[in-house]
Amino acid sequence: MGENGRGARRGIFLTGAAGGIGEALARELTRRGFTVFAGVRRNRGALDDLPHVVPVPVDVTDPGSVEDAAAQVGRHPAAAHGLHAVINNAGVIVQGPLELVPPAELRRQFEVNTLGPAYVTQAFLPLLRAGGGRVINVSAATARMPLPLLAPISASKAALAALSDAQRLELAAWGIPVIVVEPGATETPIFAAAEAAAKTAAGVADPGRRALYAGHLAAFAEVMAKQKNGPVERVVKAIATAAEARSPKRRYVAGSDARALRTLARLPAGVRERLIAGSFGLRKVTPGAAV
Ligand SMILES: NC(=O)c1ccc[n+]([C@@H]2O[C@H](COP(=O)([O-])OP(=O)(O)OC[C@H]3O[C@@H](n4cnc5c(N)ncnc54)[C@H](OP(=O)(O)O)[C@@H]3O)[C@@H](O)[C@H]2O)c1
Repeated sequence: MGENGRGARRGIFLTGAAGGIGEALARELTRRGFTVFAGVRRNRGALDDLPHVVPVPVDVTDPGSVEDAAAQVGRHPAAAHGLHAVINNAGVIVQGPLELVPPAELRRQFEVNTLGPAYVTQAFLPLLRAGGGRVINVSAATARMPLPLLAPISASKAALAALSDAQRLELAAWGIPVIVVEPGATETPIFAAAEAAAKTAAGVADPGRRALYAGHLAAFAEVMAKQKNGPVERVVKAIATAAEARSPKRRYVAGSDARALRTLARLPAGVRERLIAGSFGLRKVTPGAAV
């Protein structure tokens, strides 16, 4: 499937390729016969040592950098007949009570998770048209079922899902599928990075307002400590299936927790909110006193 009719490898541009899901996915896609143009921002991880992987520097929040990446890929012989897919996988989690999230952090959340995929898809569409390609956007289960103290990530992925659903209708004229993959919690460095960023943000927050949420934050820390993250392989399999399927589905859900959140999202709002508040320990939280 990774090869075209002439026996040449087809190309896929993948963002966040040095991350937990990205690196495993790059390996799997090359194993399946593709050349992977690996979008990397700072660190390249082990990508340099992988055959059929071409590192491409890109910051998805910078439209100029995204244009440069598309031009670099377009000049490569493996993209001479266009691309088979673009996979918008780069992402970050911004967490905390929305009242306390600094504006710069809120902006970062949407710039990486929502605007980034829009810029990348815009810049790479000529290559996708030439190659009969597809767009794969990596969303999250929280796009369907927003969770407390995870408002920024939930909203950024819900917005990405809306962009995907609208653009699917626009690109149908060229037969370019737009596919959304919704992973559940997965064992990668994303949670440690989110916690570190939240700690930095807390350091600049007004202590009085932060004290109001002491109970919420303690309950959330307990939930996160108990969270069971699934293996990256289940997400890699879902994305690789989306990349290879002759007639891809609109959505792929990866993980039983993601399927459970999808079911929860269909319940009446009152029932759903009681269940979520209960599982996040928020029903026994009393508002903290300002200091
Ligand atoms: N892990 C989960 O539980 C989970 C669940 C649902 C959805 N997802 C989604 O899956 C995707 C991959 O996440 P992951 O778990 O593999 O996280 P990860 O290990 O933290 O990898 C994220 C990658 O995104 C890159 N990135 C961040 N900001 C960027 C920017 N401005 N430009 C270009 N690249 C940037 C990072 O590069 P640097 O190293 O240079 O920062 C990193 O390589 C994300 O979209 C995430 O939201 C993950």
